[in-house]
Amino acid sequence: MKAVKMSEGIYRVGANIKNGDMFEGMWPIPDGVSLNCYVVSGEKKALIDMVDDWNNAPGQIREQLNSISMGIEDFDYLILNHMEPDHIGWLQEFVVINPKVQIVTTPKGVDLVKAFCGITENVSAVKSGDTLDLGNGKVLSFTEIPNVHWPETMVTYESESGILFSCDAFGSYGEVHEIVFDDELSQEQHDFYDRESLRYYANIIATFSLFVLKAIDKLAGLDIKMIAPSHGIVWRENPGVIVERYKQYANFMNGKGLPEITLIWGSMYGYTEKVVSSVVKGIRSESVPVHVHRVPEENASWALADAWKSAGIVFGMPTYEYKMFPPIAGVVDVFEDKRVWNKKVFRFGSFGWSGGAQKDFMEKTKKLKWEHLEPLEWQGEADDEAHKIAFERGAELARMIKKAE
Ligand code: FEO
Repeated sequence: MKAVKMSEGIYRVGANIKNGDMFEGMWPIPDGVSLNCYVVSGEKKALIDMVDDWNNAPGQIREQLNSISMGIEDFDYLILNHMEPDHIGWLQEFVVINPKVQIVTTPKGVDLVKAFCGITENVSAVKSGDTLDLGNGKVLSFTEIPNVHWPETMVTYESESGILFSCDAFGSYGEVHEIVFDDELSQEQHDFYDRESLRYYANIIATFSLFVLKAIDKLAGLDIKMIAPSHGIVWRENPGVIVERYKQYANFMNGKGLPEITLIWGSMYGYTEKVVSSVVKGIRSESVPVHVHRVPEENASWALADAWKSAGIVFGMPTYEYKMFPPIAGVVDVFEDKRVWNKKVFRFGSFGWSGGAQKDFMEKTKKLKWEHLEPLEWQGEADDEAHKIAFERGAELARMIKKAE
């Protein structure tokens, strides 16, 4: 791959992390993820954001820099918007190759550069409103956007081109190859990034949704012509699309979910499984879309993404040793961590010698501001009456969601 010109003196260079690895060590990326960096050349040269030493990302970046006759040693500044190791994991090697480079980050970023990399020399802190003049008309300005994704995070704006280098904000899963800009994508590719930006958001950013809304307000005064995140495509034709999308994602936490239902189920011997289809039929009888996920067979990443956007959630799980079936309990824990709030919820499931899952479920979810329908539990095999109630509860939940629209 070659560096891609974005504007006069400004280039995108990026590395692709292939499928098979997990992002943050826990989220599947079957279609990979890109780690994007950006070159801004005035009289001085800056590299914005960096990479981890992961899947030969440094080699990929160096190859693309070579395509514009540049090397690591040519940079005067390294702008670090965010310190999660996917963006700084290669920093120690970078400064060995280029010991004169000036690292620019936020005050909290300075502490993290020291903590992660042991680097204290040639590191300077900037705050919101500070600028860095690179010469030849290239001026970088910085805005702190704490907690999107970590407390030290900032964005960098280049005023001549109107490009916002937003790091994690407005990012997505998915490798990026020759097609870098939104206006070059087919409809199918747009749909892909639509799905994968939501999954990325739900997995990585969701917990910090209040901060996302604050950051969007804070950036409203900038004349943004292009958004260049550190994961995913560059938004050149219509950067407002990804901003509005992120605003919608953030507001899902406030209960503005889509009129859809996500059903997450797990079963030990099939007694809960047999009732799943009755609930699904009930939901579909009201023409409400339903996304079905089975755990532990599937990683919670996809269920989290669908639940994040859905107004309703159904959990199907049996009792296991007086408590929730552990794989579903794990999903509930993730939902609590990620603040999957303000949902309408129904739970069903079987038990053997004793119940207990429902009590455990209610205790573990009491902080999530969920509105619960009457649960359905049965001992052993579900009878016709249980299937009938399952259908009716599915339909009732669907009607509640349609009514709330
Ligand atoms: Fe792409 Fe929060 O790191």
